[in-house]
Amino acid sequence: MRSLSTTLLASSLALALAACGGQPDTVDDAATPPVAPAATTPSTDSMPADAAPAPAAGSAVAVLTATEGNAVTGELRFAAVDGGVAITGQVNGLSPGSEHGFHVHEHGDCSAPDATSAGGHFNPAGTAHGRVGSDEHHVGDTDNIVADDTGVATVDTRLAGATLGDGAPTDVLGRGVIVHADADDYATQPTGNAGARLACGVISQPQ
Ligand code: CU
Ligand code: ZN
Repeated sequence: MRSLSTTLLASSLALALAACGGQPDTVDDAATPPVAPAATTPSTDSMPADAAPAPAAGSAVAVLTATEGNAVTGELRFAAVDGGVAITGQVNGLSPGSEHGFHVHEHGDCSAPDATSAGGHFNPAGTAHGRVGSDEHHVGDTDNIVADDTGVATVDTRLAGATLGDGAPTDVLGRGVIVHADADDYATQPTGNAGARLACGVISQPQ
């Protein structure tokens, strides 16, 4: 008796079967040999560290998303440099020519609609707020960013005294970045009076 599978096989095997004179039923009955199990892969614990390349040490990114009622976005790159952490990138959706406070904040948490979840300025040394280069300042402080006539601010700045990814108290990895509605006056404690939060991002290692 021919099974359905034999019948189906017969059409494709017709030439071969005809050539060797074999019977369809012998093909149908032949059990598929069990596939040999793949050799057990040794645990990666015992292997050299060449499996998955780790993200480049000392670099990170932050994608800025708008807070509720705002349309400011951006993309930033962070790199460990001598004496601090360099920040480069762009912030989009600002008013042409406007000036905005721009800081690293304590928490990498942008979940609140107004981004207050990011906490205050990152201040591991317990210093006063101020202008980098001329006053005592928070590690998270930077100079204001300024939008061009298309509303784009090009960021090219440095967090003096910050580190990236070393787990030290000055480490900014995993913390927040905030673009404020107003300019930082570099004087008002402890915020610089920079107003509401327009956009928020988390400093993260690229996946
Ligand atoms: Cu801020
Ligand atoms: Zn500050």
